[in-house]
Amino acid sequence: MKKLILFSLFCITLISCNENSKKQTQPKTQRGLITSKAMVVSARAEASKIGTDILKKGGNAFDAMMATEMALAVTYPYAGNLGGGGFMVYRLNDGTFGALDYREKAPLAATKNMYLDEEGNVIKDKSTVGAFAVGIPGTVAGIFAAHEKFGSLPITEILQPVIDLANNGFVITEKQQQRFTEYDSIFNAVNEKEILFSKHTKANDTIKNLKLAETLKRIASKGKEEFYKGETAKHLVDFLSQKGGIITLEDLELYEAKWRDPIAFNYKDIKVVSMSPPSSGGICLAQIMKMIEPFDIQQYGHNSLKAIKVIVEAERRAYADRSFYLGDPDFVDIPTNHLLSDVYLQERMSDFSFKNPTISDSLSYGIIPGYESDQTTHYSIVDQFGNAVSVTTTLNGAYGSKLYVDELGFFLNNEMDDFSSKPGVPNVYGLIGAEANSIAPQKRMLSAMTPTIIEKEGELHMVLGTPGGSTIITSVLQTILNVEEFGMTMQQAVDAPRFHHQWLPDEIRMEVNRFPDELKQQLQKSGYPINEEAPPITARVDAILVLDDGSLEAGADHRGDDTADGF
Ligand code: DON
Repeated sequence: MKKLILFSLFCITLISCNENSKKQTQPKTQRGLITSKAMVVSARAEASKIGTDILKKGGNAFDAMMATEMALAVTYPYAGNLGGGGFMVYRLNDGTFGALDYREKAPLAATKNMYLDEEGNVIKDKSTVGAFAVGIPGTVAGIFAAHEKFGSLPITEILQPVIDLANNGFVITEKQQQRFTEYDSIFNAVNEKEILFSKHTKANDTIKNLKLAETLKRIASKGKEEFYKGETAKHLVDFLSQKGGIITLEDLELYEAKWRDPIAFNYKDIKVVSMSPPSSGGICLAQIMKMIEPFDIQQYGHNSLKAIKVIVEAERRAYADRSFYLGDPDFVDIPTNHLLSDVYLQERMSDFSFKNPTISDSLSYGIIPGYESDQTTHYSIVDQFGNAVSVTTTLNGAYGSKLYVDELGFFLNNEMDDFSSKPGVPNVYGLIGAEANSIAPQKRMLSAMTPTIIEKEGELHMVLGTPGGSTIITSVLQTILNVEEFGMTMQQAVDAPRFHHQWLPDEIRMEVNRFPDELKQQLQKSGYPINEEAPPITARVDAILVLDDGSLEAGADHRGDDTADGF
């Protein structure tokens, strides 16, 4: 019965999200904030300001990353987190690129079929709601790894403003209030009591998160060990086991963030650098951009029938490959070079025709000879020294598993749903996976997060990324094309209407009420089903563009409370 109630609440949540998405806000400005030296663009004004203040004090992009990430954990519990994970791509001012993986992992006690019933069917909600859905959090390990390698200011100095923010409180926005009300019943059902964030909180109220302030204070003075071995770790494990979770102290102690080589490729005159597995972002983005490169989409026009057809067909093929080949590189061999080779991608697009769509059911992953076989947030930072970081971090679903650790002041992720619980059965984003992304102890679940940095003529050019589940990759793609092919400003590129195709289901998802009826009819007539209903495109791109005179232009997504700051 309890499970049934939880499931109904989850459905209501999805439906109400969808209702909300119909009230589209329209973009207001042509140009984003322009600054001369440094900038932080994130989902909350307070987080962008705290990051900027750290830069003003002489800190670098990695110091600002720690401050911004933790400030989002305070002010944006929807996705900002201590209980989740993420990915960071960086470019140093000497042109060196790198990437950090602080993705959650499956606990030691996880098993391949842990979300299946006796008949082998996926049990609804088990991988998305409550303690059993939680992966081992990676965020604290991530910000400490970045700081250890590149940080310059003392951790206590970086975290003090965040601790003050949690103690003094932050102001609830209209959008936040709406979400607290939408999620109130599921919060109560999962936590069996009211939590700090509830429908009783009104817009313009100030929320103080004193427990989170204490947790952050302990972490600031004792380091990441506090989260993975100390008092915080012990409390977290006790709490989870009382709620039916399986994460142990050993799981926390074993967790480490990993430095990875990012995916780098050229598209016309730009070099794009994005996240490597266990995120699918970089590989899919590279495949799509390489498949569309031979077509003159600039001449076809922005969101024209012809441009949409080319982009959709490239997306369809890349997402089909994703579902089969991609997973945690520490567990599966990914044929990256082959998947990104010109010969393979030309062959993959060889049956493309403007006349007829490829039917997804007739399309599978590409054959490689010899090969065996809801909520996130992004922030972009450029510092006054010319370093850049692009970070996407998540709890997965909105407020993760909805499980709130009262005593520690944060939500826990439901990242286990990003594994493929059963081959061919879609996850909450409708994504289908296979063996490469099956559950195993200590394995990282496949992600779509696509933090990206672009270089032009050897110089830093753009920093961007977004939340949005399966729509992350295609939203990053369209934002890049909007600037590079269609000559938009950073802000226009972020605000422009978006569409999405992910192979299965075989449909083009479009932002509601933002595409002309005639275009939709033409697409439908050509055999492309359109879906403006569920699930909505939830991407909120936060980006920075380096302008010709060296100043920085922000693209802060008008769809959220996203804000740029800088100097
Ligand atoms: O890693 C992933 O791909 C997902 N956990 C991201 C979830 C997400 O973006 C939800 N936001 N709308």
